[in-house]
Amino acid sequence: MPVLREIGLLATCAPRGAQSEIHPISHAALVWENDTIRWVGKEVDLPEQYSGWEGKTAGGNLVIPGLIDAHTHLAFGGWRAEEFELRILGKSYLEIAESGGGILSTVARTRAATFEELRSRADEHLQGMARLGITTVEAKSGYGLSLEHELRLLQVYRDLADPQRPRIIPTLLAAHVVPPEYRARRAAYIRLIIEQIIPGASGIASFCDVFVEKSAFTIEEGREVLEAGVRHGLQPKLHADQLSDTGGAALAAEIGAVSADHLERVSDSGIEKLAAAGVVAVSLPLASLYLAAAPIPARRLIEAGVSVAVATDFNPGSAPSYHLPFALTLACTLQRMTPAEALKGATIIAARALGVEHDTGSLEAGKRADFAIVKAPSVEHWLYQLTENACQLTVASGREIWRVA
Ligand code: NIG
Ligand code: FE
Repeated sequence: MPVLREIGLLATCAPRGAQSEIHPISHAALVWENDTIRWVGKEVDLPEQYSGWEGKTAGGNLVIPGLIDAHTHLAFGGWRAEEFELRILGKSYLEIAESGGGILSTVARTRAATFEELRSRADEHLQGMARLGITTVEAKSGYGLSLEHELRLLQVYRDLADPQRPRIIPTLLAAHVVPPEYRARRAAYIRLIIEQIIPGASGIASFCDVFVEKSAFTIEEGREVLEAGVRHGLQPKLHADQLSDTGGAALAAEIGAVSADHLERVSDSGIEKLAAAGVVAVSLPLASLYLAAAPIPARRLIEAGVSVAVATDFNPGSAPSYHLPFALTLACTLQRMTPAEALKGATIIAARALGVEHDTGSLEAGKRADFAIVKAPSVEHWLYQLTENACQLTVASGREIWRVA
C-alpha cells in the first residue's frame, strides 16, 4: 500500500473553520490503502506500521485534495465560436439568444449528434480535466430538451463512469430554456418535464437544476420543477440571479437547494437568505470573464457566512473552458477571494455543493484517496503563476488517472 512522502505542503482542506482555513501541513506524508486514505500528517510522525509500505515521492511539491468542478455542462454538440466574436462586436448574450443563437443553437447541434459523438467528446474533455488535477465533475444535461434527448445526455454520463476517469455526478437540467417546439406552449413543456423527464431521470441523475432567468424560467416554474424533482429523489440546484436579480437566491433558500449557482446579480436580501438556509453559492468566474460581466459579490457572501464554491460552468457559450485552476486564479483576481478561499471552494465546499463531502473534498483518514500533486511551493504561488499545467499527478480513489510524462 502506498505512502506519499516528501510533500512540501499538504493542504488538507478539512471542513472545520473559515473558508480561508485550509489546515495545511508542511513536510507531510499521506498513506492510502486501495481507495481510502489511512493517515495524513507530518512525515516525521509517520506511524511505524506504515514505514515499510511502498514509497512514492512528491518531490517537495504541493499536494491538494482532488479538485471538484461542481458546475459543468459537459456533453454538448458543436461549439459557438461565432458568438464569441459577436459579443466582442457588441451583441449581448441575450440578444444573441433572441436571434436564434445561444443555448438553442447548441440544442440543435446536440440533438443532431450521435450518442457516440457526444460520448467521445465528453470523454476527451473529462480526460483533459484529469490532467488538471480534477477527480470529481458535476455534469448537467440541458441541451436535449426532450425526453429522449435529455435522457440520452444522462446516459452519456452514466456510460463514462470508469475508475480511470474523474467521477461524474449527473444533474438533470431539462429546464434550461423552453425548446422551440414548445415556444407557444411553455406550460406544456413544464408538464413534460414534471410528468415524463423527471421520472425518467430518477435513479440516473442526482440533482435537478433550473435556469431561473427572464429568458428562461420564472420563479414559479422553477419552484414547480424543483419540487417535482424532490418527489423523485433529485435534490434541487439553481442557476440563479445571473443576468438579472429575479429572486433566484430566495427560491434556493426557500426550497432548501444544495446550491445556488452564478449569483452575479444577487441582492443583499438574497445573500441573507442563502446564509440563513446554509445554501452553498457556486461562483463561475469564467462566465464573468467571457461575458465581460460583473463578477459574483464573493466577499459579501463570505462575510455574510455563505460558503462560496468555485467551478468552471464549462459550456460552449458563456464558458468554453474546463480549466478549473484558471477559474481559481480568476476567483482571486475578479472575485477577491484569497488563494486559500479559492482552493477550499474547489475542494470541500464544492463537495458540499454536490452532497459528497462525506467521502471526498479533503485529505483526511477515511476519505477517498482523491488528490493531486501540484508543482508549486504553496497554494498562493500556484494560483499566482498561471502555467500551462502545474499538475504532475492525479489520483482518484487510489488510482493514478494521470501522470506528467
Ligand atoms: O450556466 N446560464 C445558463 N446556462 C449556461 C450557458 C449555456 C450556454 O450558453 O450554452 C451557463 O452560463
Ligand atoms: Fe451553467
